[in-house]
Amino acid sequence: MIGAHGHPVDNTAELEGRMSGMVIRGVGSCLPAQRLTNVDLESMMDTTDDWIADRTGIRERRIGGSTSDMAIEASRIAIERSGIDPATIELVVLSTTTPDQQVPATAPTVQAALGLNCGAIDVNAACSGFTYGLIASAGMIALGSGPVLVVGSDALSRITDYHDRGTGILFADGAGAAIVTPVDGPGSLLGWDLGTDGSARGILYADIGSVLKMDGKEVFRRAVRVMASSAENAMQRAGVTIDDISLCIPHQANIRIIDAAIQRLGIPMERTVTNLERVGNTSSGSIPLALDEAVQASRIADGDLVLVCGFGAGMTWASCVLRWGAA
Ligand code: COA
Repeated sequence: MIGAHGHPVDNTAELEGRMSGMVIRGVGSCLPAQRLTNVDLESMMDTTDDWIADRTGIRERRIGGSTSDMAIEASRIAIERSGIDPATIELVVLSTTTPDQQVPATAPTVQAALGLNCGAIDVNAACSGFTYGLIASAGMIALGSGPVLVVGSDALSRITDYHDRGTGILFADGAGAAIVTPVDGPGSLLGWDLGTDGSARGILYADIGSVLKMDGKEVFRRAVRVMASSAENAMQRAGVTIDDISLCIPHQANIRIIDAAIQRLGIPMERTVTNLERVGNTSSGSIPLALDEAVQASRIADGDLVLVCGFGAGMTWASCVLRWGAA
């Protein structure tokens, strides 16, 4: 490497010191208080509680949150549970499709509210975004970064038309956060897979200032395929098979998508986390909310292999295999 004054600098020792793995130390989540049930939706559009429950698995969802407020609350809980000193956090990666403002990003609002002294960026990979953030945080930690706060927060109610029965039955608000810290050795992230097909961006989108539009059937068809193949790629990279996986945490889009994908993967529902019946599809909040519920319910023990897999608008997909508590 060349130093600031053009002299070669020997930083081999520093670079060698950089090969840390990552581990998730604390997880938190936040849901807004306001419930919107399927029965409420019956008076807003031509639908029924039974139809929605049968076709999506959702019974109710939460709305009325702000992306930054939910992100801040979920992050506070994650930091507290992690036991780390927040002053050591070096980066906030906030996944959202519903930033508070067009500019600036929402991550700086979280940084300021929590009194952190660090970098802060937003990521927009829709429902895959939290997993993108988690995998990117492992890269930062391998480069020598200290703890990273990875957050997924979306206030989809802001861009959902609750009179449109194609989308209004699915989308909702919620957030989850994780503190990712360095450990000696390979750490928790055993394998990962990221992918995009931008030619499919027209099947789920919201124009600036407008609401979500979706070709539900096409999203459904592609989602099952990419969720299963992405999960398989991540497992292959990790050198594990589905039989090694203790718990699968899929994106909470539609129970029929989850059913079809886990059937392809060969993992039973008992080893799969679902909470969409109560929270709907919270996009960036979906996977960390489900992860937090699983951790709080003691469904994950140290040493367990956890498979995270999801897809979203873009079209994007992201999966990873984590060895829980691999410190
Ligand atoms: N309530 C009642 N009836 C409805 C309805 C609703 N909310 N939405 C559609 N219908 C009706 C249709 O009019 C149609 O009636 P018809 O057969 O008389 O024409 C019938 O139900 C089937 O409609 P269809 O659009 O084929 O429904 P579907 O089975 O594809 O379900 C979704 C619609 C949106 C639930 C489903 O396509 C889906 O979940 N797709 C994936 C979306 C997703 O996960 N997006 C997020 C990605 S991150």
